[in-house]
Amino acid sequence: MSVNVIAIDGPAASGKSTAARELAAAIPGAVCINTGSMYRAVAWKAMRDGMDPAHPDRDRLNRLLETIRMRFVSTPEGCELEVDGERPGNALRTPEVSAGASAIATIPEVRRKLVELQRAMAAEQMIVMEGRDIGTVVFPDAKYKFFLTASPEVRARRRLLQDGGNPDPAEVARVAAEIAARDKTDSTRADSPLRRAEDAVLIDNSTFSREETIQRMLERIQRKMTVMPYRVPYADTDQMGVVYYANYLVYFERFRNELLRDAGYTYRRLEEDGIAMPVIEAVCSYKASAKYDDLLEITGRFAEAKGVKVKIECEVRREGKILVEGYTVHACMDLKSGRPTRPPEFIRELLLKP
Ligand code: CDP
Repeated sequence: MSVNVIAIDGPAASGKSTAARELAAAIPGAVCINTGSMYRAVAWKAMRDGMDPAHPDRDRLNRLLETIRMRFVSTPEGCELEVDGERPGNALRTPEVSAGASAIATIPEVRRKLVELQRAMAAEQMIVMEGRDIGTVVFPDAKYKFFLTASPEVRARRRLLQDGGNPDPAEVARVAAEIAARDKTDSTRADSPLRRAEDAVLIDNSTFSREETIQRMLERIQRKMTVMPYRVPYADTDQMGVVYYANYLVYFERFRNELLRDAGYTYRRLEEDGIAMPVIEAVCSYKASAKYDDLLEITGRFAEAKGVKVKIECEVRREGKILVEGYTVHACMDLKSGRPTRPPEFIRELLLKP
């Protein structure tokens, strides 16, 4: 399962980009990736080379696809696409490029190339990826999936306001027709049509504010993250009335058990399979103290694996505020031979950095 991917799909102007940007800002270490801009960039380059995006010369298009290089650069507004060293910015958002993107996105070679690039982007960190086929094709195993939509009229208004246009009824009708044409191309194409993955959470945000949409999405994400609630007993506190510092390492261990359980595994089963994971390093950074009767929330993840080592990160929060954060590094050991061994396959699949 891709535990580090939040997939957001939906039709044009359904609020995906805003949601992706704001979710990435709300989740530590996450970046957002707008796959639509990648299709737009291919259309833009093809059109600049004199090709018709609806019927491009296949050899020329394939040459373009072979050499094209794309990367996302973080900006204060989220992230911006760089194509072959250039930043096309608003040139990707003209009506011609929008229609061109929809047309060129029906071509299987284009999709294959971009899906390959998109999958490679997930190896390094938590990503919020938005598009048309993220939950169905690019990351069908994403842990978090959303399908955003809104009525055509609402979407047309949003697009007009976003582009600085005038939302009078005639303009709204014109843009709604443009969007409807693009939705049709996107949802009827043979290769990776726009559709909701069965396990995606459907959010029709026609009547929601931006904040409400984000709030709903965050709630769904938090529900699915491994979260261990813990009420502090007297037994954990010291003479100062706060949780004794060494106890957090015990909390980390409890949490690791829950993390394994969420992945459909247990530490006991790991041992029965002949593997142990002794701690070889533990790091704890204390920012604020927890007291008797506080309700703590402990979260974390399998963060990294190098050779035989696995790193598990952990945070302890109270009402959203981080009190303690840290990690443990484990060496995987074959119980029979007592020798180091590679982490089991299922852990490698759960990692942020394989
Ligand atoms: O911003 P807007 O919703 O209008 O469109 P976009 O997300 O920038 O995507 C532009 C076009 O790229 C879409 O109309 C789709 O045809 C295509 N696209 C796609 O086929 N698959 C994706 N994952 C993303 C975009």
